[in-house]
Amino acid sequence: MGRREYPAAAGPSLVILALSLLVVVSGMEVTVPATVYALNGTDARLPCKFNSCYKMDNKLFSVNWTYKSCENCSEEMFIQYNKKLSYHNLERFQNRVEFTGNPTKNDLTVMIHDVQLQDIGDYYCYVLNPPDRDRGTGKIHLEVRTEVPPERDSTVAVLVGASVGGFLAIVILILVIVKCVRRKKQQNLNSEDQKTEEEVKTDGEGNTGGELKAAIPEVP
Ligand SMILES: *[C@@H]1O[C@H](CO)[C@@H](O)[C@H](O)[C@H]1NC(C)=O
Ligand SMILES: *[C@@H]1O[C@H](CO)[C@@H](O)[C@H](O)[C@H]1NC(C)=O
Ligand SMILES: *[C@@H]1O[C@H](CO)[C@@H](O)[C@H](O)[C@H]1NC(C)=O
Repeated sequence: MGRREYPAAAGPSLVILALSLLVVVSGMEVTVPATVYALNGTDARLPCKFNSCYKMDNKLFSVNWTYKSCENCSEEMFIQYNKKLSYHNLERFQNRVEFTGNPTKNDLTVMIHDVQLQDIGDYYCYVLNPPDRDRGTGKIHLEVRTEVPPERDSTVAVLVGASVGGFLAIVILILVIVKCVRRKKQQNLNSEDQKTEEEVKTDGEGNTGGELKAAIPEVP
């Protein structure tokens, strides 16, 4: 049993690529996935890699990991690396966060163990690597799910099948109704004797009441 990672869509990767290219120009490059999906109760991995034009110097290098639970909420720092590693706000995560990266290998990955629905939100990975003047920033949105989503293809197939099936059923129903109404009308006309037609004709005004009138004489 392990965590389950869902394949990222092409869109976010392209955005990351474009952003990375922009950041390369400015010196500091931070690479993160736009969104991480995790099943509740499993371990969620928040990868963060950086690339700098300067060699990492532990005396100057620093990392902050912050968490923002909602759009308007403020960021809370939960991990700081400044010469050494320190954890903050551990009540929120109840000792479930762990820095598993290795800064000397440009890896700033964080793990959230036994991930909960309350952990959903945005995670920011900030890196400073002086003399590189730019502060690198990575933003990851964590999505926690309570069950494995069904296969997308089969879902689509079922949906398409159901809607096509439903549509056909409605069309068939309408055809049957139209056919029945027509047949009934025809039967009514056929069962009426010539008198009916004459009456309708002699009615002269050609209104739709002809049929109704025609039915009256049939009552014994
Ligand atoms: C995930 O969340 C659901 C609903 O809150 C809960 O019933 C289930 O036990 C949780 N699973 C794990 C592995 O924590
Ligand atoms: C966030 O703040 C803005 C302005 O302060 C407000 O208009 C908006 O409704 C807030 N959104 C939420 C989700 O609270
Ligand atoms: C981390 O946070 C501290 C205190 O808020 C700040 O002084 C420092 O510049 C931050 N470092 C990074 C890399 O964002």
